[in-house]
Amino acid sequence: MSLIKPLTLGNRTFPVNIIQGPLAGVSCAPFRALTWRYSKPAFSCTEMISCKTLIHQSEYSQQRFIAKDPDEGPVCFQLSGNHPVELAEATKIVTDHGADLIDLNCGCPVKKIRSRGAGSSLLSDATLLYKMICAMKASTHLPVSVKIRVQGGSDEKFNSDIAAAVQDAGADFLVVHGRHWTEHYETPCRYDEIRFFVENLQVPVIGNGDIACMTSLGKMFATGCAGVMIGRAGVGQPWLIGKLIAEMNGEPFNLPLHQEQGALFLEHVMNLARLLGSEKFAILQARKFAKYYARGLASRLEFASRVNVCETLDELQSITGFYFGQEQAA
Ligand SMILES: Cc1cc2nc3c(=O)[nH]c(=O)nc-3n(C[C@H](O)[C@H](O)[C@H](O)COP(=O)(O)O)c2cc1C
Repeated sequence: MSLIKPLTLGNRTFPVNIIQGPLAGVSCAPFRALTWRYSKPAFSCTEMISCKTLIHQSEYSQQRFIAKDPDEGPVCFQLSGNHPVELAEATKIVTDHGADLIDLNCGCPVKKIRSRGAGSSLLSDATLLYKMICAMKASTHLPVSVKIRVQGGSDEKFNSDIAAAVQDAGADFLVVHGRHWTEHYETPCRYDEIRFFVENLQVPVIGNGDIACMTSLGKMFATGCAGVMIGRAGVGQPWLIGKLIAEMNGEPFNLPLHQEQGALFLEHVMNLARLLGSEKFAILQARKFAKYYARGLASRLEFASRVNVCETLDELQSITGFYFGQEQAA
């Protein structure tokens, strides 16, 4: 029986229970629009947006974070902060801006974010976390969630405190990345701790960590989670979620041909250039994404190193045409 099911989160029901998660430096509108076109996840997420940025900066300077594509599906806006009053204000701003759901980042391990008392450092203070969630709930009619990391191998004991804060404050659902904030991606995902939240919360739990194929998807669903979130594996393969949904449902799925994959890479980069008004920035992004879009190319490394020294969009277009067209014909 397929594990793909409708997913009810607060007052919204989505047709499927797979989500494209937040990735800083990646999850802006051009990326999400392609994911939506090929995959139709329950929803996609913005990268984390600082409450202070939302409150104090001009809408123009926030474009990269808050712009939505007219053709994309539901979007969860993820907020980062450590002050309930600011969080309430930011929650109202993104509600008015057209968010479909709102999430609080409680997982970011980056020093700069933790030193401001935000991201994963919020997990060390369940009382503050409770107040933060209450502030969000009081400021929006949209479903509200929290995305956390787990206690893992640490000495801290926060899983049960966090479960209580999330439940008591009335969050509509919880996203759990199965690693401690000090753990890198080489540490295997801690499915048992995700299961702890599934068993101890009445609201839905979304499992996150290392999902890239049917096997890893099955392992995550085995925790009993109501839905799953995909992070890194969605980069450069906007069709991944659509493919997993089709495979789960026993339906055929036509993988885009190489030439089309190359065209998607270019579309992503061109739309970034348009969104940010900067060819230079788009080229830097292209260098970052090239190896992901070229996963299926035998000449993946050669392609990535050519993109790495490419300076203009015209040049990028001809390099991409050469590599993706060449292997298609072969
Ligand atoms: C480059 C990068 C940026 C990330 N940015 C965010 C972010 O802005 N907000 C967040 O909650 N998690 C962020 N994450 C964590 C992912 O959303 C996800 O929890 C993690 O990568 C585990 O899922 P995966 O194994 O499917 O990638 C980021 C991860 C990476 C690799």
